[in-house]
Amino acid sequence: MAGRIPQEFLDQLLGRVDLVDIVNARVPLRRAGREFMACCPFHAEKTPSFSVSPHKQFYYCFGCGVHGNAIDFLMSYERLEFLDAVEELARLAGMDLPKTGGDGGSTRRLLEWVAQADQFFRRQLREHPARQRAVDYLRQRGLTGRIANVFGIGYAPPGWENLSRALSAAGAAAEDLLTAGLVSRDERGRPRDRFRDRIIFPIRDRRGRVIAFGGRALEGTTTPKYLNSPETPLFHKGSELYGLYEARAHRRPLQRLVVVEGYMDVVALAQHEVTYAVATLGTATTAEHIERLFRAIDDLVFCFDGDRAGRVAGWRALETALPFLRDGRRIGFLFLPEGEDPDTLVRREGQAAFEQRLTQATPLADYLFAELRAQTDPDTLAGRARLAERARPLLEKLPDGHFRDLMIGRLRQEAGLEATRLRPPPVSAAASRADHNLRLIRTPLRKAIALLLYRPELARQLSADALPPDSSEPGMPLLAELLGILRNQPHLRIATLLERYRDTREGKILERLAVWEPEVPEQDYQFERELTDILAYLRRRQDPREQLPDMLLRRGTPRALSDAERAVLQNLGKSPKK
Ligand code: UTP
Ligand code: MN
Repeated sequence: MAGRIPQEFLDQLLGRVDLVDIVNARVPLRRAGREFMACCPFHAEKTPSFSVSPHKQFYYCFGCGVHGNAIDFLMSYERLEFLDAVEELARLAGMDLPKTGGDGGSTRRLLEWVAQADQFFRRQLREHPARQRAVDYLRQRGLTGRIANVFGIGYAPPGWENLSRALSAAGAAAEDLLTAGLVSRDERGRPRDRFRDRIIFPIRDRRGRVIAFGGRALEGTTTPKYLNSPETPLFHKGSELYGLYEARAHRRPLQRLVVVEGYMDVVALAQHEVTYAVATLGTATTAEHIERLFRAIDDLVFCFDGDRAGRVAGWRALETALPFLRDGRRIGFLFLPEGEDPDTLVRREGQAAFEQRLTQATPLADYLFAELRAQTDPDTLAGRARLAERARPLLEKLPDGHFRDLMIGRLRQEAGLEATRLRPPPVSAAASRADHNLRLIRTPLRKAIALLLYRPELARQLSADALPPDSSEPGMPLLAELLGILRNQPHLRIATLLERYRDTREGKILERLAVWEPEVPEQDYQFERELTDILAYLRRRQDPREQLPDMLLRRGTPRALSDAERAVLQNLGKSPKK
């Protein structure tokens, strides 16, 4: 996949963007000597161990080991595919992506058909002879044309082959329509539209591209009431959130997000100016949802129906969210009166009253302890012990931080226990540089590569015969290749160099070695001297006069040696062991 974009383009792209800017726009960085530091965005920690090197254009976390260049950062931080990350960087750098056929191809094709399906559904809502039923339905649910437009709401007319015929006529392969989840086959193998006589809610990804649909039945008697696209290469239910794109597009920066249960809740709230609601798609809240939500904003309110199912769902969301509650993030829980959902409530009470409820949502800590108290009768000693017992595994899920400390303090209070022992939080303090280098560098050859990655200009200072003649030794071809590249392009950034090795075995080694830094202040470090010493050592090690004796000696008894071999040893003044 990485190979589909020409190397020259990636070289140029990575030469143009600045990783420091890209990271800093998402994770504020502080300068620390030659590098920039921050608390790692990829694991929870209190002291910064995430470093970005402007010079290498490479990041590395001493706590959890994540590392990479600008493309990797966008892939992990924004959860982008490789091609999307490259596209995003190209956009930042003002470069046009070269046209690719390849894999991109299949994804792009599916996206294209889903986009055309989206257009089709919207057109039916405007033009189909049966459109009035759909329009009346939306109106009766309190929606205006404007909000229907914001969410791209459409209509799938009755009938088995409306969409499949239209898209086939536009050139879609039957196979693609199946893969995109738009069509299924009946028992006789005929293509059948998945969505029939339903209101259509397009589901957009974070960049606003339609990737799937939800469809609501117009008739109360039709089951299921809601039908979603199946899992497809474009759509993974457990990680998408309906309305997230629209919420972000509406107002930047977002003030908060409220998580509700249904499509109609999101749309009805937006209709009443509560434009920051998102919904999971008929699934429980997953860790991926929480990650995505917290990536967008630090302040979440979960909104659940007041019935038993809502309570169960709420508690499950709490358990899922605990590991993500690093300092500065907040979650509130709002349980609605029985029989209400956000849609009915906001229509009856209006924006202000609904937002008032949001403001008064129960903080996670209060919700957690209230639930535990309700389960355990804290008026008795045994009950308090049970409370502590139940709280412990929950609090242990919290990441290291002040919030965790506060929750432990609160538990002591609630349980009336002096000491509540928890397992200590995972260590996240920055490991020392020397310690890291030690783990990294295990052979002289690796050290030579690390030095080159740190000081690429050294390649130019080496004479042509600096390398050992035999290049079959493991690692040697790589070293030779690096020397070749860096001699020709001494100003190539390390991040760019590494990009050429993406997804290769060599790349894995290089990434790790690129993390190496001198243990002593740079001005005191003799880079060139150390590199030439290592190369001299490697040459010596390959010299037959050095090697042969060891080899022969290892072979054992004199009888196992040929006359010629014995002569060699004698000439060198060594004799085989008896
Ligand atoms: P609800 O059953 O709570 O319906 O489903 P709702 O959101 O209040 O819908 P309206 O107001 O009657 O139109 C909540 C969510 O659960 C999923 C959908 O994502 C829905 O929005 N769901 C529900 C399904 O996927 N399939 C179903 O059959 C029902
Ligand atoms: Mn509803």
